Amino acid sequence: MTTLLSNDAAPAPAADFADRLVAWQRVHGRHDLPWQRDRDPYRVWLSEIMLQQTQVSAVIPYYERFLARFPDVRALADAPLDDVLAAWSGLGYYARARNLHAAARVIAHDLGGRFPETADGWAALPGVGRSTAAAVAVFSFGVRAAILDGNVKRVLARWRGVDGWPGLPAVERTLWTLAEALLPRGDFDPYTQGLMDLGSGLCTRSRPRCDACPVRDDCVARRDGRTSELPAARPRKTAPERAIALVILLREGRVLLERRPPAGIWGGLWSLPEVETDADVRATCERRFGIAIESLHPGEAFRHGFTHFTLSIRPWIVQVADGSRAVSEPAAEWFELRDALAAGLPKPVRTLLSGIAVEDLLVDRS
Ligand code: ADE
Repeated sequence: MTTLLSNDAAPAPAADFADRLVAWQRVHGRHDLPWQRDRDPYRVWLSEIMLQQTQVSAVIPYYERFLARFPDVRALADAPLDDVLAAWSGLGYYARARNLHAAARVIAHDLGGRFPETADGWAALPGVGRSTAAAVAVFSFGVRAAILDGNVKRVLARWRGVDGWPGLPAVERTLWTLAEALLPRGDFDPYTQGLMDLGSGLCTRSRPRCDACPVRDDCVARRDGRTSELPAARPRKTAPERAIALVILLREGRVLLERRPPAGIWGGLWSLPEVETDADVRATCERRFGIAIESLHPGEAFRHGFTHFTLSIRPWIVQVADGSRAVSEPAAEWFELRDALAAGLPKPVRTLLSGIAVEDLLVDRS
């Protein structure tokens, strides 16, 4: 027998939605993630920042290493930014690490080492948006606050049948209103974790597992066969492409790295020198660094995706003649390969340097 649901069926009461979600979370949700062991605000905050744009499985090893290196907010506040960026190296979106460090200094110096206990208090810190602030306040202080990250937007847009791309302010406002209205009167921790677990485990972007969903009975997208259409996709613009060359200057087993300017991609990280793709690599590097080049050859270009554009990178392997070790650029330094790999490097630069063969370093001068 089929059940007929009219299009204007009365929305389920909020308590009912939350009850089902909490009951499901207690049985099927995640309870043993490393940041769930206690309610320590520092650990919860760190995990929520790392989990922005990054999956749990990728975060866990970084999270453990980061905590071993910076065990509490004071250790983080006292550390040089470079050390923080090095510990973050490979996770991407480095503004997260810079903001984390800046916020640690605010907590340690301006707040006397005490963490905010409300979502609004957290939201006043650098790098903590409304949803992250709510998640941290819920998980560390058990307060009542609504989250709305990308996964939760998908869950709510489907369940209530909210049309429009959630990146549009009007759609986002509707979803925030819904997220607030659905909040239960208690059990904020399992409720919030339940929304996250549902979004990442069942209500996935493609092929959601509606059969196992605790709120399937009144899900509008499921009823109308629209799970593949909701939430609506961002209106498509093709990502612009930029091309650069990165130069691997090698000399006596060392590689030349250059500190990136603070603004722009990979701001503040150590990187390989960048030159224009149509530049004369030999002349540009000789002039810029005051060195003499012995041999150079181009590698295969490859692509690296950023949120708003794609970068095409052509590496050049360049052997520099013996001579002075000094370079004429203050922001550039020769690194032993091992030390270079321990520095805060952009991911494609790390990949390039990891692929440098011993033969490249020990050039045959016969
Ligand atoms: N994604 C963001 N926050 C999370 C959390 N606390 N647990 C699992 N996934 C998450």
